Amino acid sequence: MNKYIYPLVDNPFRKKDLKSAIEVIKTGRITMSKNVAAFENQFSNKIKNNFSIMTNSGSSANLLALQCLINPYRKKKLKKGDEVLIPALCWSTSLWPIIQSGLKPVFVDVDINNLNIDLNDMERKISKKTKAIMLVHVLGNCPNMKLLIKLKKKYNLILIEDTCESLGTMFNKKFLGTFGEFSTFSFYSSHQISSGEGGMISCKSREDYEIIKSLRSHGWSRDLSIHKKIIKQNKHLDEKFIFYNSGYNLRPTEVSAVIAASQFRDLDKFKKTKNFIRNQIVKKFRSNNVINNYLKIIDPTHNSDPFWFGIPMILSDKINRMKFINLINKQGLETRPIISGNFAKQPAVKKYLIYKKYKLLNADKINDNGFFIGIPFNKISDNLLNKICNIFEKNLQISKV
Ligand SMILES: Cc1ncc(COP(=O)(O)O)c(C=O)c1O
Repeated sequence: MNKYIYPLVDNPFRKKDLKSAIEVIKTGRITMSKNVAAFENQFSNKIKNNFSIMTNSGSSANLLALQCLINPYRKKKLKKGDEVLIPALCWSTSLWPIIQSGLKPVFVDVDINNLNIDLNDMERKISKKTKAIMLVHVLGNCPNMKLLIKLKKKYNLILIEDTCESLGTMFNKKFLGTFGEFSTFSFYSSHQISSGEGGMISCKSREDYEIIKSLRSHGWSRDLSIHKKIIKQNKHLDEKFIFYNSGYNLRPTEVSAVIAASQFRDLDKFKKTKNFIRNQIVKKFRSNNVINNYLKIIDPTHNSDPFWFGIPMILSDKINRMKFINLINKQGLETRPIISGNFAKQPAVKKYLIYKKYKLLNADKINDNGFFIGIPFNKISDNLLNKICNIFEKNLQISKV
């Protein structure tokens, strides 16, 4: 049994999600096939993206985006040492594919009001070597995409949107994940929709689509539109086993595809319920003087319509964060850091990068004072709402420094 009265994640699967999985298992065809293709189409149609390719995780989708950018079949490919901007508030596998692809990440500070990339710091960090932005949309929120796209165009940068935490959020009535050349999504358990594990990468151009499809599956040519031409050029090879590119195996299963598709059909419904619960909690907290004095809840960016992943908050410096978090955890409220705090502070970064002392003041503040609580899939009772509020109020009062 879960020890939390208000956990970060509850069981995301409904009977109908599981039923579709069992039906697929019964067919005996679990490896990637028509259900993956059907979900990719369903996804592209709703999000309004040109091409979508399902993967076994959001991390794999990020790896494919970066590997596509350096691929020899890409006409405009990046070269070793080219710089990629990335907000310091990022996930581990938003960052590592940049380094694993021989490119150089440059950390950018974030905006304390919306947790996303700080556009002023972003412009300051652009150099002649800057070729791309690995943008991370944080917990369902986003930066001002209109201004970001202006900078992208001004400096001719490629945009990858890591939308792993923000499926379903819109900016100016357009889904996140439709602004960049590439966008990636995660269907891990705690995310807006889930297939246990799973991900998606979308892209704008057919050239990138073909490269990614090949990289996803061993580098073979079977799935490519030019497969017939490749066969003619390689008559000495078995046509099913022609390896046209380098590759990985990052394919999802049919089981993940049907569960994700079943959940994706209800994306709007999930968004409505979760945002309703978030608004209930925010309203309750904001009407409480103690909570209001010592805790700032992050608001949506102007012109955005988020599908919140959780409820991110920043504690005042007058509160001992460790003490407060330990107390509320013990009393049944589960919390976690906002993504993983300032990622530039992680030991792995110091090991792999020539560590430069970046000034990332807002990311530091979020690292030191920020945390978030989850949002359940089903409505919460007034009793639970009052309990959560009381636990926050009582422990803020006794955690003052
Ligand atoms: C911003 C971000 N990018 C990438 C990922 C990786 O997704 P996955 O867990 O599906 O590999 C996550 C995971 O939660 C994430 O939060």
